[in-house]
Order: sequence, then structure tokens, then C-alpha cells
Amino acid sequence: MKETESFKAVKVSEHVYWVGAIDWTGRDFHGYLTQRGTTYNAYLVMADKVTLIDTVKAPFAGEMLGRIASVVDPASVRYIISNHSELDHTGCLPQAMAALAPEKVFASPNGVRALNAHFDLPGQITPVKDGEAIELGNMQLTCLETKMLHWPDSMISYLAADELLFSQDGFGMHLATSERFADEVDESILEYEAGKYYANILLPLSGYVTKLLERVAKLNLPIKTIAPDHGPIWRRNLNWILDRYARYARQQPTNKAVVVYDTMWGSTDLMARAIAGGLAAGGTHVKLMKMRSDDRSSVVAELLDAGAVLVGSPTINNGMFPTMADLLCYLRGLKPMNKIGAAFGSFGWSGEAVGQVRAELEAAGVEMVGEQPGVRAKFVPDATALADCRELGRKISERLAGTQA
Ligand code: FEO
Repeated sequence: MKETESFKAVKVSEHVYWVGAIDWTGRDFHGYLTQRGTTYNAYLVMADKVTLIDTVKAPFAGEMLGRIASVVDPASVRYIISNHSELDHTGCLPQAMAALAPEKVFASPNGVRALNAHFDLPGQITPVKDGEAIELGNMQLTCLETKMLHWPDSMISYLAADELLFSQDGFGMHLATSERFADEVDESILEYEAGKYYANILLPLSGYVTKLLERVAKLNLPIKTIAPDHGPIWRRNLNWILDRYARYARQQPTNKAVVVYDTMWGSTDLMARAIAGGLAAGGTHVKLMKMRSDDRSSVVAELLDAGAVLVGSPTINNGMFPTMADLLCYLRGLKPMNKIGAAFGSFGWSGEAVGQVRAELEAAGVEMVGEQPGVRAKFVPDATALADCRELGRKISERLAGTQA
């Protein structure tokens, strides 16, 4: 038996099969900790002109081709639609083109440019305009550009015959499961992974998400199924994920604070715990995270609905601790909205870190609360410094009281 015979397609709707790949063991997606793995979803539309929607990451080409072969003679695939040129969806495109020999490969105009930059495919990709319908013989596939969701080339496509939206990165999550549909997966896992995905991939693009939701609502397309390119497919209660996207995009704060820090000899750790105590005493839900125990993408997942972020760093070599610089650089790029925060940390002699953390938080758009540059403690926080930390927690908690999703 060939290895590709291990892989079977899964029927999604009357004319559509899932033919993607499951990355059970991948734990890194360009710096995002995919602790539950991920999937690269590709779909086969069984129209007169059999059409493959997206492909998969390069090492998984055999898995995708095996699933295609489980439902159709691969030689009958006529079109490939590339909704997004990022390599998790196009890494095996040259291999797929060689194996399937499609008549045409379609992408948005920006997609054509990106694919030509990544692969040697001059003249082999056909541009498709925003709103253009591709004729598949007995049905049509309509392409809608979704620039910046998640790259300038991105588009989604709609199959009216099955009332199915291929939503590309949108409404996806990094989650490897043997189940293909969201209604088969534990809801608490969907809740965490959908939020984590949004927070790490789409957060800075929230304005575009809101506009896309408005545009799709205005088009009034009947949609029975949303088929994203990562994670499970939505076929029941679509409002579960649509409502969350509308809420994520608003970034409305809740009475929750994330205290995130690193420590050298335990002093900044003592300060973090005192701040957390002050926050909890004020009725705020607290998440305490240490950067050598947690990774940046998990911190950002917790920040999605938080109203406050308090960042602590000791001073090392006249600067902040490197793990905190990593987090703050990442956070600045994600441009979180509607958050208040503060900086804190211990030091031995020069003590620059707290001011640097404060400057980075301000650059990320966080409104700073409390004394300038933040609460600092020399060597080990004494009773006064710990009282200052608890007071900072209480002050933040007062500001958060009454905030809700
Ligand atoms: Fe799943 Fe933007 O790639």
C-alpha cells in the first residue's frame, strides 16, 4: 500500500470535500506556539470543472494528493484557486501543479505577484478580480478580495450551489483534531484556540475584520457552511464564531488584568505577586504569567479580552530583560486597543528597565496608570515597595471596575 492511501477525503457538503492535511506535531507557526498542532485545509469542489481550493504546506503535499485521489482521478482536477499566498497554503502549489496539471490556477492580482515572487511560475497564474465569478460548468465560484486578511493578496470564495464560504484564514484556528467539524469539538477548546488565533494573527487588522463582516452582511449571501483554512469547519450555529469575531474586533475590555514579567533572583516576581494581590482584592480577574514559563503567543491570547496589562522586568546590563523585549516588540506590532497598564521591576544600581518597558507599552498604545515610570524596587522589594505594588493593583482595578465585554 502506498503511503498516500492512508489519507481519505471528508465530505463537507453536497459538492465539497475536505482534502487538507493535519499537522499533529507542529508546535511553531512563525513564532506562534501551536500547542495543539494545526491543520492546513484544502477543499475539492466536485463541479463539472473539478476545482481545488487552496493547497497545503510543502511537507504535506502527499497527504493532500492522497486525499484528492480518494475521491477523484487527480487528472480530472481542472482548476486551482489560491485564496492566499502564505506558504502554509501554497508551499506545495508547484508540486500540486506538477501532479494535477490543472488548466488554470487563479489568484487575486496581489496573489499573482506574491506567487510569482515565491515560485517560478511566470504566466501560469490567472488574476481574478474582486467579485468575479469563476465558471465551473454547472456552478460558479465567486471570489471576494479581503486585502490584509491576512495578507494584501487574500481573498475568500463563495460557492452558491452549496451556500458555502471558503473563508481562508478567517474564522480559523490552530487545532489538529481527528474531527473535521466544530460541532464535534469540545467548546472550551474552540473558545481558547479561536481567541488565540485572532489575538495573534488578526488583532492589528481588526478594522478590516469589521468591514468584512459588514460587507458580507450587506451581500446577504445565504451561508450554511464556513470552511476556513485552519482548524474545524463551521456547519452549525455559525453565529457562535461570527459573534465572537465581531466582539474580538471591538476589543472591548473586561475586568481582567494580565500581569506578565520575568525575574532574575525573585524580586520582580515578588512585585508581580503583590500587584496581582492588589488587583484580586479589587475584584479583578488576574492572570499572572512569567515569560520563561509562558510564550508570547499565549500571553497575547490572554490579553485579547483583558482591560489591563502590567509588565515587569528587572534591569540587566542597563536594559530590560530580553524575554520582556521579545514580548513588547511583538505586542507593539499587534497594536492592541482599549487597554490600560503599568510598568514595574527591580534593579541593583542603574534601573533603566522600568522606563524602557513603560515607553514600549506607550508605543503599543497602552494608556499608562500610576506613577512615572512605574513601581521600582532596589535589589529586594521592602514592605513599602510591596505596598506600592498592591496599591498599583488596586488603582488599576478601580479603573477596570464596570468594564465588560
Ligand atoms: Fe494561514 Fe496567512 O496563512
